[in-house]
Amino acid sequence: MGHGKMFLFLICLLAGTMSTVMGEDPYVFYTWNVTYGTLSPLGVPQQVILINGQFPGPQINCSSNNNIVVNVFNKLDEPLLFTWSGVQHRKNSWMDGTLGSQCPIPPGTNFTYRFQIKDQIGTFFYYPTTSMHRAVGGYGIIRVFSRLLIPVPYPDPEDEFNVLIGDWYTKKHATLLKLLDSGRSIGRPAGVIINGKTAKGDGSDEPLFTMKPGKTYKYRICNAGSKNSLNFRIQGHGMKLVETEGSHVVQNIYNSLDVHVGQCFTVLVTADQAPKDYYLVASTRFTKTILTGKGIVRYENGKGSASPEIPEAPVGIAWSINQFRSFRWNLTASAARPNPQGSYKYGQIEITRTIILVGSSSKVQGKNRYALNGVSHIDGDTPFKLAEYFGVANKVFKYNIISDEPPANLDSLTIQPNVINITYRTFVEIIIENHGKSMQSYNLDGYSFFAVATEPGRWAPEKRKNYNLLDAVSRHTIQVFPNCWAAIMLTFDNCGMWNLRSELAENHYLGQQLYVSVLSPERSLRDEYNLQNATMLCGIVKDMPMPPPYNS
Ligand SMILES: *[C@@H]1O[C@H](CO)[C@@H](O)[C@H](O)[C@H]1NC(C)=O
Ligand SMILES: *[C@@H]1O[C@H](CO)[C@@H](O)[C@H](O)[C@H]1NC(C)=O
Ligand SMILES: *[C@@H]1O[C@H](CO)[C@@H](O)[C@H](O)[C@H]1NC(C)=O
Ligand SMILES: *[C@@H]1O[C@H](CO)[C@@H](O)[C@H](O)[C@H]1NC(C)=O
Ligand SMILES: *[C@@H]1O[C@H](CO)[C@@H](O)[C@H](O)[C@H]1NC(C)=O
Ligand SMILES: *[C@@H]1O[C@H](CO)[C@@H](O)[C@H](O)[C@H]1NC(C)=O
Repeated sequence: MGHGKMFLFLICLLAGTMSTVMGEDPYVFYTWNVTYGTLSPLGVPQQVILINGQFPGPQINCSSNNNIVVNVFNKLDEPLLFTWSGVQHRKNSWMDGTLGSQCPIPPGTNFTYRFQIKDQIGTFFYYPTTSMHRAVGGYGIIRVFSRLLIPVPYPDPEDEFNVLIGDWYTKKHATLLKLLDSGRSIGRPAGVIINGKTAKGDGSDEPLFTMKPGKTYKYRICNAGSKNSLNFRIQGHGMKLVETEGSHVVQNIYNSLDVHVGQCFTVLVTADQAPKDYYLVASTRFTKTILTGKGIVRYENGKGSASPEIPEAPVGIAWSINQFRSFRWNLTASAARPNPQGSYKYGQIEITRTIILVGSSSKVQGKNRYALNGVSHIDGDTPFKLAEYFGVANKVFKYNIISDEPPANLDSLTIQPNVINITYRTFVEIIIENHGKSMQSYNLDGYSFFAVATEPGRWAPEKRKNYNLLDAVSRHTIQVFPNCWAAIMLTFDNCGMWNLRSELAENHYLGQQLYVSVLSPERSLRDEYNLQNATMLCGIVKDMPMPPPYNS
């Protein structure tokens, strides 16, 4: 046993004896200093958010079932929260990092996130949910490897590369916020970046990655941007898709992938071309003006710069819908769970509830707002989860102010907390319609859902015959194209207060989100963890006595 291993072993021993809530699995520790800094992602110096001096932030690297401990020092001058997009937080919405589940970390203080990445594998990313922080950084990759004995449906790659793509604004987040608060839009982004920058193409660019000829590499790609869907491609190279937001998929080869905001893909790329430089390209989709970001991948000992002719992006929505349909779950691949994923047979479970949500936007008192079923969500001083736990929900919000079908008139919006409840362990179908002209992309915390369809037009019950009820990908983000609908299905088997949100920063900030409360009917520790002593308290629960804990 080397020193490193011995140390890990000791930590595991120690953690094992300390932990009652999290089980006996290994721990991974991080300390993050979150600060402002100055960088020039698009060539112009501007204020960005750094973690330990880095943008993108440090990666979280772990295996399934590891316990993650991140001690976050908020050295900004504003409250801050991070969410761990795609991490399910079984029984533990306390650590989900949204304003409805947690009090924000006050400036100048620290808070320690503790959560387990239970039964999950794949590529995810974290980002700040507060203010417009995500538009100026604070995001990074989460890599979750399979446990040693669980087979992975492809050979070990030579190395792994993180590729965080995203549109980018050259304004400070405070400026973006001021625009939104004054009722205006943040407008179009200024460009697209890959891992915090874009190649200039004048011969001075350093490569982001280097590949050895003949070897195969794993690229973990996430769209961490604020607004635009992006098409990602690598000059001269096919990409073999192996994983999508936590699911092993049928391994098709793609020349390019549409990555909508909040989505992640893991692909394998073999260095089988002439040994020189090649561009990685990310360009905006469905926009009048196409913005393009580039990065360089170099062959070891290669000669020659990347060709200035970048491969063309696909055009139109139909292409993208077809690509969505080509994503299929690999029913025979082992999952992080001991039982094969295919055994779920979700297509045969009876639907107990259908919720139809329509995302809309309108002006309220002259200011832009975004909504779901006519309600534009607003957070309060007391997180809904805490209000519920302390038994004072009725002082903070009303459940179910929207119904399961959209109102006839979507133009008149109301601004209030949007919290619905769903019965524990029921199997629910959620339809999201987009009646507008721009892309939407939604994420549900706490769960993976089966993304069974996204189609043009309006949804109707007979559209269910178009669902993929066999091998739809289980994931956490779904895009909804303009004038289209999307359908997802899932069992609500994870108690907590979970955010369903637009991944677009502007829509999210201006109310296009809601919370789903799933309660443990028996207030049982089998279903949900108790609030921990270290949990931050704020709003009306700040000085309240702790409620009786859940039963074992
Ligand atoms: C965070 O900042 C403190 C104080 O400046 C410093 O001592 C510590 O080493 C930093 N930690 C990391 C992980 O950068
Ligand atoms: C990342 O985690 C994996 C699996 O837990 C481990 O094999 C690998 O060495 C780690 N890499 C880094 C850079 O920490
Ligand atoms: C703040 O950080 C210190 C270590 O520097 C740690 O002991 C303490 O538990 C942290 N506080 C919270 C609330 O996480
Ligand atoms: C699915 O996974 C299995 C088992 O690891 C693998 O052998 C097979 O090639 C994969 N199938 C496809 C179509 O990718
Ligand atoms: C949902 O909330 C309503 C109050 O609006 C309540 O009557 C009902 O029992 C709740 N259902 C569940 C499953 O929590
Ligand atoms: C949490 O606080 C309660 C009462 O303040 C105390 O009895 C209990 O031991 C604490 N639990 C832990 C794990 O520190």
